[in-house]
Amino acid sequence: MGSYRVAPAERIAGEVTIPGDKSISHRAVMFGAIASGTTRIQGFLEGEDCLATMRAVRQLGVEVERPGAGEVVVRGVGLRGLKPPAGDLDMGNAGTAMRLFMGLLSAQPFDSVLIGDESLMRRPMERAAKPLREMGARIETVEGKPPVRITGGSKLHGIRYAMPVASAQVKSAVLLAGLYAAGETSVEEPAVTRDHTERMLQGFGCEVRARGGVATVKPPRELHAADITVPGDFSSAAFFIVAACIGAREPFTIRGVGVNPTRTGLLEMLALMGADLRLINHRTCGAEPVADIEVRPAKLRGARIPERLVPLAIDEFPALFVAAACAEGETLVTGAEELRVKESDRIAAMARGLDALGVRNEVLKDGLRIEGGRIGGGTIDSRGDHRVAMSFAVASLRAEAPIEILDVANVATSFPGFAPLANSVGLKIEERA
Ligand code: S3P
Repeated sequence: MGSYRVAPAERIAGEVTIPGDKSISHRAVMFGAIASGTTRIQGFLEGEDCLATMRAVRQLGVEVERPGAGEVVVRGVGLRGLKPPAGDLDMGNAGTAMRLFMGLLSAQPFDSVLIGDESLMRRPMERAAKPLREMGARIETVEGKPPVRITGGSKLHGIRYAMPVASAQVKSAVLLAGLYAAGETSVEEPAVTRDHTERMLQGFGCEVRARGGVATVKPPRELHAADITVPGDFSSAAFFIVAACIGAREPFTIRGVGVNPTRTGLLEMLALMGADLRLINHRTCGAEPVADIEVRPAKLRGARIPERLVPLAIDEFPALFVAAACAEGETLVTGAEELRVKESDRIAAMARGLDALGVRNEVLKDGLRIEGGRIGGGTIDSRGDHRVAMSFAVASLRAEAPIEILDVANVATSFPGFAPLANSVGLKIEERA
C-alpha cells in the first residue's frame, strides 16, 4: 500500500523534466506490436500501467526488448501475427490498456480474457463493448465490468458510431477494431478528446481522417513500423504546474511537455483563475507538439470552469481542485460526471480529502464547488488513486500542518519517481512502506 508523510513546504523552486506520456506509451507498444517491422521507442513511460501493456503484448507473442532506460524495441508481427495468449491478460490499474485491447482483440482469430486490479475490475467496460458488438464482435462483460471475455474469429464490419460519452479510450477501441473491419469505421465524439490514436496511426502509415469531430479509419493492408519519441506527460506535468502556481516565488519551468491541444485544458482553467503561464521553446516530437511550460508567480482566484474544457483536462481535476482550494473565493466545476468512473470516484475522493484538510466544499452530482482558503493538515485516503495521492502531496505547499496520504503505491502506475522529483524542487515527501 505505502503512504506519504508530507511536511508543509515553503516553496518550490528550480525546474523539472517529467517522465513520458502514459497514453502515448501504451499506444506506441500496442501499435508497434501489430505493425510490420521494428518500432523503436524513446522516452517510454516505465510506469506500471504501460508495463502491463508491454506484458500483454509479449503474451500475445510479440518480442519486446528494453535496451536502456526509456528505450523499447518492439518487433512487430504485423496486423495478423498476434498469437493466442496462454492465460488471462492482466491490465493492472490501466483502463486505457483494457479498453484499447478490447478493440484490438475483438478482431483476432483467438479468444482472450482481460482482467485487472481491484480498481479496474470495478470500472465500466460496456461503453467500449457496445460499439464493438455493433461491429460484429463477440464480447462479454460481467454486469458491465471486467473480466471481459472476447470470443475470437468474428468478422467485423465498419460502423459509424456516435459516442454518448466523450472518451478517447472508447474512440480508440473502435478505431483499432476498425483496422480489421470490412469498410470504413467512423467515430463521432460529443466533445473533443485526446487524438493520440489518430496521430500515431497516421504515423504508422494508416489512412485516418479527423474532421468536424468525426474520426474515420480505413482498414490498411498493413501498418508500417515507426520510431517514436514520447513527449513528457502533460498529466504528470499538471502536478508541477499547480505546485508552481501555489508555491513558486520566481518563475518555475517544466521541460519537454506534450502540449497536444486535446490535453491542455488545465492551462486555460488556471489562466481563468489568474495564473501566469507561458509555453516556450515550441517543438514537435513526431506527430505531437511539445513545449516547456513556465509558471510565474501570480495570485489565484476562484472561477467557474467552462464545461467545454472538461474533456480537455479530464485527468487534471484532482490537481485543479487543489489549485481551487488555494485560490481566493469559490471555484465551481460542473459537467464532470466522468470523474466518478476514473481510477476512483474522483469527485468523492477529492471532496473527502479536502474535508480532511478543512477546505469547504460541496459535492455535486457532476462536479464540485470549492471555497478556497486555509489548508490544514490531516490524513487523506487516496483510495489507491495515483492522481489523488499526488494532488494532496502538492497541497502541502500551502498546508499548515503535515498531510498523511494513505495507499499511494499506485503513483507508480503513471509517475514512477514522483516523490524524489518533487523533493528535488522543494516538497517534503517522506515515503513509508
Ligand atoms: C485516456 C483517455 C481518458 C483518460 C485516461 C487516458 C487515453 O479516459 O482519462 O487517463 O489514453 O485514451 P476516457 O477515454 O475514459 O476519458
